[in-house]
Amino acid sequence: MTALNVVVGISGGIAAYKAVSVIRELVLAGHDVHVVATSNALKFVGLPTLEAISRNPVHTDLYEGVDEVRHVSVGQAADVIVVAPATANTIAKIATGQASDFLGNTILASTAPVVLAPAMHTEMWQNPATVANVETLRSRGIRFVGPESGQLTGSDSGLGRMSEPSDIVAAVLDVAVASRDLAGRSVLVTAGGTREPLDPVRFIGNRSSGKQGVALATAAAARGASVTLIGANLEVAPPAGVRFIEVGTTLELQSIVNAEAVTADLIVMAAAVADYRPAETAQSKIKKRSDSSTLELRLEENPDILRGVVAARSGDQVIVGFAAETEPDDAALLELGRAKVTRKGCDYLVVNRVGWTEGFASDRNTVIVINTAGDRVGEASGSKLSVAHRILDLVFAAR
Ligand code: C5P
Repeated sequence: MTALNVVVGISGGIAAYKAVSVIRELVLAGHDVHVVATSNALKFVGLPTLEAISRNPVHTDLYEGVDEVRHVSVGQAADVIVVAPATANTIAKIATGQASDFLGNTILASTAPVVLAPAMHTEMWQNPATVANVETLRSRGIRFVGPESGQLTGSDSGLGRMSEPSDIVAAVLDVAVASRDLAGRSVLVTAGGTREPLDPVRFIGNRSSGKQGVALATAAAARGASVTLIGANLEVAPPAGVRFIEVGTTLELQSIVNAEAVTADLIVMAAAVADYRPAETAQSKIKKRSDSSTLELRLEENPDILRGVVAARSGDQVIVGFAAETEPDDAALLELGRAKVTRKGCDYLVVNRVGWTEGFASDRNTVIVINTAGDRVGEASGSKLSVAHRILDLVFAAR
């Protein structure tokens, strides 16, 4: 295994002394370990111990290394982050995205996988507040190792004991390797919605925010792929670490997709593409008509980019299309998907329902994935990022 940059976060619980063994094992296995300790953690284990064992400076104070913007750079450089022990308080802070200390900033600023090794008393682990926080974090793809049942700090025993250091290290390395399953692959993602100009100030467009496509690019990059994201009128920022190309219209999207598709192993066409564009684009603002209460627009058909990519496909490229439909009935929605996958000829089609209140601006999504034969290969529901990971699992798992 190549050496990983591992951030070991330590929060303030008695199990912090065992974090020293986690660090030691990672260092001896050849990994570069950067410790981020909360101020409470340092009441349980000494800073010199952590620095000597990790062979790197320990980060605690948000205001250290300000010139190097260290509160984000440590997280950005990480291949994997583990927090051991993760106290109930730290779990709550991570679940609510708090950045009041170095550890919170590091986790927020990172796209690396995160593993938490909880340690607390049984009542705290089973408290509905903790249960809800753990559920939230799991739904965002954060992994948990433990807690186990056993002797706790006082005379009590039960669920809440931190996992053994070697089990934590094994989980961290598993997650790091699994999370890089797209290393060496080249992924092309289209996102957003095309806009077809009527005149210099108006366009025909759609409500696609680009969030699902951006989540797909984020997920693929986090899994080690080299990602090109072609964004049409995105409402969200493209993620760091991907090559981003901005387009506006369907014809612009087509020319970039055709050029980029040649070298892609996986092509995911998540963009909502206008089927028609105005036959003429006025060079100055179209004026309100005084002689008529109606205005007719003549539209001409846009090329089907996805079909073009399928027709020009090379080797064992995987091509994924999207179908956003307003059909309310589940069975009928699936039938529409089946007809579309046959028409388009792509390997997979991600079918989702959209409407006035569904699909577009939301941070969540519910999709069904079908293959080229129209068979259902899986479904996903949750945050757009978790849906993105599931789609990547489904379309690569079959290969
Ligand atoms: O036919 P429909 O627009 O519903 O198909 C959606 C899928 O086809 C999406 O993957 C979309 O990116 C792609 N598409 C395309 N070119 C078009 C229309 C749609 O590539 N002109």
